[in-house]
Amino acid sequence: MTVPVRKAIFPVGGLGTRFLPATKSMPKEMLPIVDKPLIQYAVEEAQEAGIEEFIFVTGRGKTAIEDHFDHAYELQTMLDSRQQSEALKVVKATIPLPGQIAYTRQQEPLGLGHAVRCARNFVGTEPVAVLLADDLILGETGCLTQMIRAYHEVGGNMLAVMEVAPEEISSYGVVDPGKQKGRIMEVRGLIEKPQTGQAPSNLAVIGRYILQPKIFEDLGRFERGAGGEIQLTDAMARQLGLQPLNGYRFEGRRFDCGNKVGFLEANIAFALDREDMREPVAHILRSFS
Ligand code: G1P
Repeated sequence: MTVPVRKAIFPVGGLGTRFLPATKSMPKEMLPIVDKPLIQYAVEEAQEAGIEEFIFVTGRGKTAIEDHFDHAYELQTMLDSRQQSEALKVVKATIPLPGQIAYTRQQEPLGLGHAVRCARNFVGTEPVAVLLADDLILGETGCLTQMIRAYHEVGGNMLAVMEVAPEEISSYGVVDPGKQKGRIMEVRGLIEKPQTGQAPSNLAVIGRYILQPKIFEDLGRFERGAGGEIQLTDAMARQLGLQPLNGYRFEGRRFDCGNKVGFLEANIAFALDREDMREPVAHILRSFS
């Protein structure tokens, strides 16, 4: 019997230098796709998957995220007095139940593995999901919902994977795949940001993970990997043999919102996916061709 996944970690400490000057005084996770910040998509995906506790690993200059998931009294009072009930509903929908969100800081940028480790005391002895808000996935069923279903079949550690172009593979964690059953594949090895020609496959790790709490023991050894950082993929690879490690080939279209082109592409795709915007946006796009 697998233990249910009730908690999720959101590493949101990154500086977002690729989006300067937009991110000079605003966290990159607050950049909107159409009209919703990236981080809210990630939180909603986790809520859909049944997550009950949300652990944010933040850093300096990230308080806008905390404010976003809190009451905005002036705004709410104003919307209420003007009877703008739709807008009020949208504002209130961002607020989780009291105590559902916890914030801790990653004081130094030592890598994703280190960010995840910063959440260990909130996680305790349960399995936990990790969602990277930069990886935005558009699809019928949320990626984490799909993964949790698969996790209940196989247990252990799991990560989302997808095929990427050979020239892009060095920017990712890369999976050495074993036996496959449907969308689930055994992982025999993992390499973080392999050099050109060294990647074991074209299957890249995408920012959705389910981790067993044992991973924190490994992360506590502070072993450095690619780029001198404490890498989550390395820690997962070192757990091989101790517990199952599977990749999950999710259904849906993924956008890399950590780069400008991917971010723009996501805005277009999400706008085209909305009934109220599809026509006018398609019209504008046609005018460019
Ligand atoms: C991180 C992970 C990497 C993964 C990627 C997905 O890298 O370390 O394994 O493939 O996210 O977006 P980053 O993009 O933070 O360099």
